[in-house]
Amino acid sequence: MMAKTFVRDYALTCYTFDSEPEDYLIARLIHKHMRGSRVLDLGCGPVAPLLALFYPDAREAVAVDSLKENIDFMKNDFRFMDGIMKRALSYKHRYISKKDSSPRLSLIRGDVTKKLAIGRFDSAMQIGCFGALDTQEQFQRAVNNAYSYLKPGGILLMVNWLDEISKVKRPLQFNGKVNSLELYVPCLRQAGFRIRKMHTTSKLGGETKRMGYTRIVWAVAKK
Ligand SMILES: C[S@@+](CC[C@H](N)C(=O)[O-])C[C@H]1O[C@@H](n2cnc3c(N)ncnc32)[C@H](O)[C@@H]1O
Repeated sequence: MMAKTFVRDYALTCYTFDSEPEDYLIARLIHKHMRGSRVLDLGCGPVAPLLALFYPDAREAVAVDSLKENIDFMKNDFRFMDGIMKRALSYKHRYISKKDSSPRLSLIRGDVTKKLAIGRFDSAMQIGCFGALDTQEQFQRAVNNAYSYLKPGGILLMVNWLDEISKVKRPLQFNGKVNSLELYVPCLRQAGFRIRKMHTTSKLGGETKRMGYTRIVWAVAKK
């Protein structure tokens, strides 16, 4: 499948805001923990403007991804997301919050394992990105970099999908070989984070289970 088609299909299906339990988990975690006026989305995929609806008080958001097609989709083809954006907004007003933030969003093509010149942030998140890396060294570098982008007291929200029975195969580095569950605690601690919360849940959507994922692990860590 061409990268452009894969990216569009991913964008149109990953968060639908109908009744999937993951949509509620992600929306609630972002709204609760991605506080502050300057926020960072690491490995944003093609959906940064969609998840940006849930920042509670951001004025500026920076979204980074290594895949050109993800950035191109958000810049040139985001009209395909009009229906989902409308649904997500009414979902937010109904279940999460009536208050809107509408931050200015900058899209940056970059590698989360490299140190990027993007300044300091009040909070940062990686939703499904560090699990798309292949080695512990890359995972550690990505966590260290996230730490360096945060202001003192800043929060890192981590969420990853686990394929514990057999490896889920997706193209274009949408998932990787690392075992996120094993790496969360040592890598967050080594970077200097204090882990505030860490949980797993097996409440997954139907499509996620069909793909072979078994659980989601998430953590909130403080600099
Ligand atoms: C499963 S997708 C998650 C996308 C989005 N955060 C979401 O919530 O749907 C993983 C993303 O990580 C990106 N990615 C993988 N390795 C990366 C790297 N080294 N640097 C930046 N982005 C990376 C991929 O391009 C992809 O967009």
